[in-house]
Amino acid sequence: MIFLRKKISILFLLSFAACTGRKGEELQTIDNLQPANTLLKVEVLVSGMDVPWDLHYGSDDHLWVTEQGGNVWRIHPATGERKQVLYIRDVWRQRTTGLLGITLHPNFAHNPFVFLNYTLMRDSRIFSRLERYRFQNDTLVEPATMLEIGGNTGHNGSRITVSPDGKIMWATGDAHGVMSAQEDTCLNGKILRLDMDGNIPADNPDPKSYVWAKGFRNIQGLTYSDKGILYTSEHGDAIEDEINLIVKGANYGWPVVEGFHNLEKEQVFAAAGSSLEPLHAWTPVVAPSGMTFYNHPAIPEWTNSLLLGTLKTQSLRVLQLNDAGTAIVKEEVFFADRYGRIRDVCSGKDGAVYVSTSNRDWNPGTGFPKQGDDRILKITPAGKAIYTVLKSSSAGAVIKLNGQELYQQYCASCHKPEGTGVKGIFPALKNSAIVNGSAHHLIELLLKGKKGKDGSAMPAFSFLKDEEMTAVINYIRSSWGNKATAVSKKTITQTRR
Ligand code: HEC
Repeated sequence: MIFLRKKISILFLLSFAACTGRKGEELQTIDNLQPANTLLKVEVLVSGMDVPWDLHYGSDDHLWVTEQGGNVWRIHPATGERKQVLYIRDVWRQRTTGLLGITLHPNFAHNPFVFLNYTLMRDSRIFSRLERYRFQNDTLVEPATMLEIGGNTGHNGSRITVSPDGKIMWATGDAHGVMSAQEDTCLNGKILRLDMDGNIPADNPDPKSYVWAKGFRNIQGLTYSDKGILYTSEHGDAIEDEINLIVKGANYGWPVVEGFHNLEKEQVFAAAGSSLEPLHAWTPVVAPSGMTFYNHPAIPEWTNSLLLGTLKTQSLRVLQLNDAGTAIVKEEVFFADRYGRIRDVCSGKDGAVYVSTSNRDWNPGTGFPKQGDDRILKITPAGKAIYTVLKSSSAGAVIKLNGQELYQQYCASCHKPEGTGVKGIFPALKNSAIVNGSAHHLIELLLKGKKGKDGSAMPAFSFLKDEEMTAVINYIRSSWGNKATAVSKKTITQTRR
């Protein structure tokens, strides 16, 4: 009898673990927030998880979530009802190792494939494995290893996504290898590109190599925009966390380059190869994590933005892109220190935003984990506020503009958007001998300004950062028919001295 009861309770526990949720009940609203105009609410979709590392909204209209310890969950995005669809026994979880990235085949109804990435230990060696499963009868079956690379106790990446042309993009960490990120034959510190069966696509930069781009330390966010541009977020060392725009075959410089090319050794390295600068860099660091491109009218203020979760600064950041997607023009910070560390963010078909906390990981903030951690929070438009409305903590901060935007902001009021100037007052920059002439002379003019006729003056622009000065000068030297050679940031730095 006792034996039987034990058995029943074990069975009960098992079925409870395999399927939990609050069918029929409403989600609990815990906050209201408001970007410029749209009132939003934050609801608890799921609580009691253990480091939900990666959130993926599938074409089956469910939220797919990995827990660092090895569980995979399929969650109903309206009710929070969840089913455990897999537990991977050989996941090796330590500080930042474990079950990490997840993504689904974009046409899941016809190709029910799920791609996962996790750390494992074999013969006391550590590996990162990319594995494909098939979803069948509410479980993941038929594991097939696509690729296995060297791992370490940290710096294992890893996020996975599917490119618009149907290839698997896998962002690996440098696994603490000193020069791994620069070595073409090593698959660490890279973005790898594979077809859905694990083969090397013929149109990779080198048709014999998985490598798509190199020079990364430890990528934590990976997302495509609706224009098909690939962006990453990455942990810097003590300085220079980065957001990068990924170009086929490019080198992002780690470990020689950190952040922008502002040191001499970085400029020498960049001049010798094809090293690209980030779109944005943070010093002091914020510890950027999961990132998703958002472009849904549900939250108009967030359209054409990268939504980024951060661990150290415990925030959701909205990085507004310019129209071309080539620059970050504004950064807003929400929830700073409110819910603890934020591990990942994704958005659903209806524009709802989902965020996961990471307060049961190796490095929780003071006072965390709290009851209910870890949680998946859901952010959607709200009818009316029931709490004091949260605002972003640094709304409107302009962090970096491209040359054209800088010109429109600082120069166009006098020299006019088309560079035509105002006759007799503000000289035209189109066909200007000064614009097209000596770079040194032009930089001096911008740094010092100049008194014009009738009391009009060209203001001094020495407050512009070197990279901004470079961008605006190269914009005026290549627009409206001007065809002068580009000026390097180094020349500007030297002229300033
Ligand atoms: C408040 C008005 C004003 C603004 C804003 C302004 N300028 Fe000027 N700029 C002038 C005036 C006035 C002159 C003519 C000075 C002189 O007499 O030499 C001038 C001259 C110049 C010239 C020399 C052109 C030539 O052919 O003589 C350049 C180049 C130039 N500006 C670039 C810029 C750039 C780039 C910006 C933005 C970063 C800018 N200016 C912003 C007023 C302005």
